[in-house]
Amino acid sequence: MRVSSIIAAALLPASTVWSSPVESEALVARGASKRPNHPIQPFHPGKPFPDSPSRTKTCTVKSNGNGKDDSTNILRAIKTCNNGGHVVFSKGTTYTIGTALDLTFLKHIDLDIQGKLLFTNDTDYWQANAFKQVFQNATTFFQLGGQDVNVYGGGTLDGNGQVWYDLYAKNNLILRPILFGTIGLHGGRIEDLNLRYSPQWYNLVANSTDVVFSDINISGYSSSSNVAKNTDGWDTYRSSNIVIQNSHIDNGDDCVSFKPNSTDIVVQNLMCNGSHGISVGSLGQYKGTVDIVKNIYTYNVTMSNASDGARIKVWPGVSSALSDDLQGGGGSGAVSNITYDGMKLFNVDYAIEITQCYGQKNLTLCNQFPSNLTISDVTIKNFSGTTSKKYDPLVGYLVCSSPTVCSDINISNITVKSPSGTDAFACANIAGIESQVSCRAPK
Ligand SMILES: *[C@@H]1O[C@H](CO)[C@@H](O)[C@H](O)[C@H]1NC(C)=O
Ligand SMILES: *[C@@H]1O[C@H](CO)[C@@H](O)[C@H](O)[C@H]1NC(C)=O
Ligand SMILES: *[C@@H]1O[C@H](CO)[C@@H](O)[C@H](O)[C@H]1NC(C)=O
Ligand SMILES: *[C@@H]1O[C@H](CO)[C@@H](O)[C@H](O)[C@H]1NC(C)=O
Ligand SMILES: *[C@@H]1O[C@H](CO)[C@@H](O)[C@H](O)[C@H]1NC(C)=O
Ligand SMILES: *[C@@H]1O[C@H](CO)[C@@H](O)[C@H](O)[C@H]1NC(C)=O
Ligand SMILES: *[C@@H]1O[C@H](CO)[C@@H](O)[C@H](O)[C@H]1NC(C)=O
Ligand SMILES: *[C@@H]1O[C@H](CO)[C@@H](O)[C@H](O)[C@H]1NC(C)=O
Ligand SMILES: *[C@@H]1O[C@H](CO)[C@@H](O)[C@H](O)[C@H]1NC(C)=O
Ligand SMILES: *[C@@H]1O[C@H](CO)[C@@H](O)[C@H](O)[C@H]1NC(C)=O
Ligand SMILES: *[C@@H]1O[C@H](CO)[C@@H](O)[C@H](O)[C@H]1NC(C)=O
Ligand SMILES: *[C@@H]1O[C@H](CO)[C@@H](O)[C@H](O)[C@H]1NC(C)=O
Repeated sequence: MRVSSIIAAALLPASTVWSSPVESEALVARGASKRPNHPIQPFHPGKPFPDSPSRTKTCTVKSNGNGKDDSTNILRAIKTCNNGGHVVFSKGTTYTIGTALDLTFLKHIDLDIQGKLLFTNDTDYWQANAFKQVFQNATTFFQLGGQDVNVYGGGTLDGNGQVWYDLYAKNNLILRPILFGTIGLHGGRIEDLNLRYSPQWYNLVANSTDVVFSDINISGYSSSSNVAKNTDGWDTYRSSNIVIQNSHIDNGDDCVSFKPNSTDIVVQNLMCNGSHGISVGSLGQYKGTVDIVKNIYTYNVTMSNASDGARIKVWPGVSSALSDDLQGGGGSGAVSNITYDGMKLFNVDYAIEITQCYGQKNLTLCNQFPSNLTISDVTIKNFSGTTSKKYDPLVGYLVCSSPTVCSDINISNITVKSPSGTDAFACANIAGIESQVSCRAPK
């Protein structure tokens, strides 16, 4: 039933209107890239995406060169071209950004990033001035929001992360900015970009609706012994009708993570390497808040060298601490209507992990204080490949804190094997799970 309605939605005619050929040719003649317009396929979250009328003027951003801050030039070009224009960041040019940019006023504008945007390494400045997004102490170098904004061009945003990886190793309470802040954007496409060396998460998508991310290439490793940590590919928060597709992610934390109040989201055709998987959560971290994640469809993901493939992580019913900068539990809410369809795994610790004991090692305690967050209507199917040696003979972990808080979990057609050839799962407190996978008691 659910699947057929998604396929029907996927067959709806594309509703987005792009530049008329005559106007876009005139823009291209002035150095602008053509809009990429990658189709949303094969799945679609269901609601149509709003039209994006063609742009009629071009503004080219000047660069001061020599590492001088280009923020004033950038703001000027964007203000001049807002309401119907196309801003070009020229190919072969590096633009230095040393000032936090509030771009939440955008309307009917294309940002055509052909060159490189490099954020300065001034960790004192950014810690004082990056935009505070409150949730999980997140901060962003810039915040891009408004209505009908397209960002593309084949260029690069570089977060200059090394200095942050090294500083975080000394003090894990520093505030590391997120490279790309999509904050309060209603209608937009972010396509054909390279994201490099983010100090922390690569993308935060918050308070946003109707946004498509397509053909994004994420990569960036530490060149010192201090690992680049918490470099999630995308985190969605208080956002709805979002697509993340056709992208390549080399990172060191969640490939995509659905944080509180993420609804109607499709994630498809991704290659994730080195990550913590496609994660719902963590949720229930803050007592007194209600976290909802529903209507998520994840399709066709290749997951390599990761801790998890599909993961649902929920904090226990009481507060606990995972580390100095990660603690919580006791929040309530619901995870429902989540599908993971099609995942190929190579060297992944757990193919599937469901836990309601996130941030806590004492399972007895979690069972004593069951999570206030329910998990229901979850379908996980069509997974193949092999896990890593880490939990062999286990290939997955399906452990709820009480049978009353987890229901309607359906797992089928999982052909994932451990290196020793087993296919066992740790299972507890999930009705009917023993008939779906081969279960053992969790340790
Ligand atoms: C920061 O960047 C400046 C200018 O590019 C460079 O001179 C300096 O060495 C860098 N500092 C660190 C700590 O990497
Ligand atoms: C989102 O909107 C809410 C309500 O207006 C606001 O409190 C919050 O600061 C905004 N930003 C984020 C990241 O939640
Ligand atoms: C992504 O970028 C990396 C590093 O430049 C490159 O090796 C890789 O081929 C790119 N992947 C795709 C799919 O474009
Ligand atoms: C799955 O995604 C890959 C890119 O990661 C793409 O090349 C392939 O065509 C997709 N397959 C299907 C069946 O959509
Ligand atoms: C893939 O991830 C592994 C483990 O994190 C890493 O060693 C390897 O360099 C990554 N590959 C690429 C192409 O980034
Ligand atoms: C999530 O949505 C629910 C229901 O609308 C609301 O009660 C709750 O405050 C929201 N939580 C967050 C973190 O925005
Ligand atoms: C479940 O989520 C899918 C998207 O993944 C959506 O198409 C479907 O309508 C949702 N079902 C319900 C009952 O809301
Ligand atoms: C996984 O990691 C191994 C080495 O750690 C590397 O050889 C391989 O290329 C990685 N896989 C991908 C898809 O990057
Ligand atoms: C947020 O920052 C404060 C102050 O540094 C710290 O005490 C707290 O643990 C942090 N919380 C999270 C969720 O990172
Ligand atoms: C685990 O939690 C239980 C129940 O709260 C408690 O009795 C036990 O002492 C805890 N064990 C450890 C090792 O903290
Ligand atoms: C959360 O769970 C705890 C332990 O299970 C319970 O005592 C508490 O009343 C719950 N709170 C809410 C808001 O549901
Ligand atoms: C089982 O999953 C595989 C992919 O791992 C897929 O090719 C096959 O069609 C699926 N079988 C069924 C019966 O859906």
